[in-house]
Amino acid sequence: MMISLALLLFPLFHATSQEEIVQIVNNVKGGLWKAKVYNKTEFDVEAAMMHMDSTILSEEPVFSSPLQSTPEVFDARERWPEFQVPIQMQAACNGCWAFATTASMTYRLGVAGCYKGLISPQDLLSCDKTNKACQGGNPLRAMLFAANNGIASDDCVPFVSEFGRVPLCPSKCKNGSAIERYKYKTPFQVGVSDVQTLLMESGPLYARFNVYADFLNYEDGIYEHVTGRQLGSHAVLLLGWGVEKGVDYWLLQNSYSEEWGEKGYFRMRRGSNQCGMENAFYGGIVDCNAL
Ligand SMILES: *[C@@H]1O[C@H](CO)[C@@H](O)[C@H](O)[C@H]1NC(C)=O
Ligand SMILES: *[C@@H]1O[C@H](CO)[C@@H](O)[C@H](O)[C@H]1NC(C)=O
Repeated sequence: MMISLALLLFPLFHATSQEEIVQIVNNVKGGLWKAKVYNKTEFDVEAAMMHMDSTILSEEPVFSSPLQSTPEVFDARERWPEFQVPIQMQAACNGCWAFATTASMTYRLGVAGCYKGLISPQDLLSCDKTNKACQGGNPLRAMLFAANNGIASDDCVPFVSEFGRVPLCPSKCKNGSAIERYKYKTPFQVGVSDVQTLLMESGPLYARFNVYADFLNYEDGIYEHVTGRQLGSHAVLLLGWGVEKGVDYWLLQNSYSEEWGEKGYFRMRRGSNQCGMENAFYGGIVDCNAL
């Protein structure tokens, strides 16, 4: 009786350590990616575990029929270097949804011909009461908020919620000048069959996916889930795609600082709805006139 009880309870209390995860991932024969143990000054894995969205996405295969004319490789950073969004650090704020929304809006305003500099995740975190600030958010609600209320520039409202504290919605820029807020006209959700064309035409999009513990130890390569429990979901910026040694991937920008992954970026296996990422992507048509 005592033995069976112990066996039953063990999985509940045993969280796989970073060392165990790294060892398992790096020993996969023909593995597509490498893992590393991060120390706390580089990237705080335990803190990141606690700052996940609770939404879990379906990982059922999704139908996809990419157009014949899609190029083999696309990278928004090379296509639009003038609108490049720096790698940011959400730290102890579960604000990935705000970073992904504003990074995609930054590029999309630029591609539409009305670049406004970096759009502010802080303004969105502080002002959008339809979402939960540093406790998580939903892409369509965030983009609808951007359509109705607009979002300030990052120069005007810089990020200050790295410890999870969220100030009230500001009525002035940090330097005291009046706030201008920039808008989306139409927020939308797009399927995997159309996302590549849309990205090439109008700029990067919001992507979300289920996070398993091994993702946090990603160092480089093409990520696919190997081991570790499901922690929740996370939002990032879709920048493009490519193929390496015959394996298709998505190119993505994270908000875990430049110390994490491929200098803050990562690649995810493409074509099999890995971690539910291919269910949907999100974006908006910008409104250059409504400034
Ligand atoms: C953490 O890693 C960085 C970069 O590899 C290194 O410079 C630093 O000394 C490490 N810190 C600790 C406490 O091990
Ligand atoms: C204050 O900041 C805003 C937003 O970055 C900027 O447009 C404006 O020129 C600044 N004003 C002054 C007086 O520096």
